[in-house]
This record gives sequence, structure tokens and C-alpha cells, in this order.
Amino acid sequence: MSSSQKLSVQALQWSGRSLKVLDQRQLPQTIAYDEYHDAAGVAEAIISMRVRGAPAIGIAAAYGVVLSAIAHFPATDWQTAVEQDIDQLAASRPTAVNLFWALDKMRGLLAQNPAEPIAALTQLAVQIHAEDLAANHAMGERGADVIGKANGVLTHCNAGALATGGYGTALGVIRSLHKRGHVQHVYADETRPWLQGARLTVWELAQDGIPATLIADSAAAWLMKSGKIDWIIVGADRIAANGDAANKIGTYSLAVLAKQHGVKVMVAAPSSTFDFSLENGDSIEIEERNPKELLADCYLNAGSLVSAWNPVFDVTPADLISAIVTERGVVIDPGKHGVRSLAAC
Ligand code: MRU
Repeated sequence: MSSSQKLSVQALQWSGRSLKVLDQRQLPQTIAYDEYHDAAGVAEAIISMRVRGAPAIGIAAAYGVVLSAIAHFPATDWQTAVEQDIDQLAASRPTAVNLFWALDKMRGLLAQNPAEPIAALTQLAVQIHAEDLAANHAMGERGADVIGKANGVLTHCNAGALATGGYGTALGVIRSLHKRGHVQHVYADETRPWLQGARLTVWELAQDGIPATLIADSAAAWLMKSGKIDWIIVGADRIAANGDAANKIGTYSLAVLAKQHGVKVMVAAPSSTFDFSLENGDSIEIEERNPKELLADCYLNAGSLVSAWNPVFDVTPADLISAIVTERGVVIDPGKHGVRSLAAC
């Protein structure tokens, strides 16, 4: 890692025999790491959203596979036990394809029967982590090049170091813009119901000395109307071959509003977020979380007439996206061009 790739906030710390996970449910009040020694624990950390964000859950799952190998190798049938753990990790959350991408890589290595499986799997998980960090730095620079100078930018959810191997995707672009002195104001949506923006994004930016202004999600249209922002910059959880992009619920509404107000929309995501098996975003599975995240306690009793629907992602059609930025390149107007040009060479 070069000195310019210094980590600020770290969602995940690998010790060689255990994985420490920053409990993001407790931020910003408390900085506490939980330590995991098995895959079941890592799966639970993903389900409970101690670790969240598409690339970060992929990285955590890769380390979970290493922990599984440490726990089971060289017992008879250790590979079957690891396969079962991989299935458990894969069942943790459905939308972010980075999870399945990382597990497929680990599974592929396992299938090669490496002579020293623990060492080989460790090396691959560490590589997945390091490559994600490097990809974020590359995306940050590319995204900043596309934007040039901005008076104001708005981000949604948390697509920062907390959600990745470090530096962040959308927040990586914002970090690079800030370093260049090319952005005047950074706005963050609170991102109901889990408040990734209010609890994580503004805190993470403050750790790096980047001033940010928090807005209620419902203030976004009025912010755009005021002319204070030029770009919305977000991450993604899965991008289909035509450029449709799944991201945190509310991203679609922002993109519709952006069209009305002449604001541009940038999606920054590493190659591990692309799902070229999907022609478009229609078949992306959208996670629905517990209605308790929305409902007041008094509505939780069995006879209550009040229920809640809590989809936590939506899909923004490619034609509402101005640019998709990856470590491999940029597609301007993906609605016209799709994103197959960004597939691995
Ligand atoms: O439910 P979360 O917090 O895991 O959702 C995270 C997002 O939607 C992020 O924007 C996305 O994963 C990109 S993170 C670089």
C-alpha cells in the first residue's frame, strides 16, 4: 500500500487467524470491533449489518471462508464442511453481487485442491481486500476527472471506507475531489431507515477532515431546486449489463429528481459489482428487511392494523445515470451504451 493509500476508517481487520469487524450499528457513538473465529459468526455479522456495503460484505465473506478452512482442515471431509459454510455465507444478504463474486472466487480456489489450503485461501482473501482498496483509489481519480469542478455534490447511503476495503467508491470520488480542491460543498442524505448517511457518511468524512452537510432524504428535491448541487454520487450493489444499477433505497427517487433539475448522476463501483449475467435490472433480487426497522414499537403487537414494507434497495434505470465509473474505465451515458465494454478483457 502506498503512502497515498493510507487507511482512515477500517471496517475489517484481518489478524491471520480471526476477523475483527467494526460494529457499524453502534456508530458514531461507539467504535467497537467484534472478533470472529468462524464462518457462522461472519455470516451473522453480515446479516445483522455490523458490516455492510457491497464490497465490504464480499471481503468479509472471503475471510469467513478462510476461517472455515482453519476450523475444518484437515479433518475428513473438511471440504464439504467449508462448502456448507460458503452456502451459509451466501445466504446472508441477497442483493449485493460482490458477496457471491467473492465466494465464487474462494470456491474456485478450493476446487483446485491447493496443497496448503489455508495459506492459499488466506492469500486470495487478502488479495480481494487489497484489490478493492486499489480499485477505489483508481475510481476516485477517474470519477474526479469526469466531474472536474463541482459547486456541490450529494451522496446517498454510505459508499465509503466503511462499505469497502477502504477509501470508498462514491466517497472515494468525493475524497479525490476534495484533495484537488474541486468541490465546494458535500451533502449527505440521512438515508432512512437505517441512517447510513446520518450515522456513517458524515462521521466518516469528518474523520478525514471533509466538511459535510446532512439533509433529510425529503430535502433532496429542494436542494436540487436551489441549484446548490451539480452531481449526485452513489455506489451500487449490483449493475446489470445494460447499466441498470441497484443501490440503497431512495437512489431511484434521487435519479428521477436529478433529471427534473438538470443534476448529473454518477455511479461508482468496482468490477466486482457487475453482473453481466443479467441483461437488465428487472431480475435483481431486492432485499426486504424487518419491518421493525420502520415501525414504532406500539405497532408491533399481533393485532396491530399497521404494517410496514421495507425494501432496502431499488434499481435506477441506466438512462437516468450520467456516468458509471469503475477501476477499469468510465461509461458516459450508460443508457445509450450499456456497460459490457467494462467487462474483463
Ligand atoms: O444496506 P447497506 O448499508 O449494505 O447498503 C449499502 C449500499 O447501498 C451502498 O451504497 C452500496 O453497497 C455501495 S457501497 C460501496
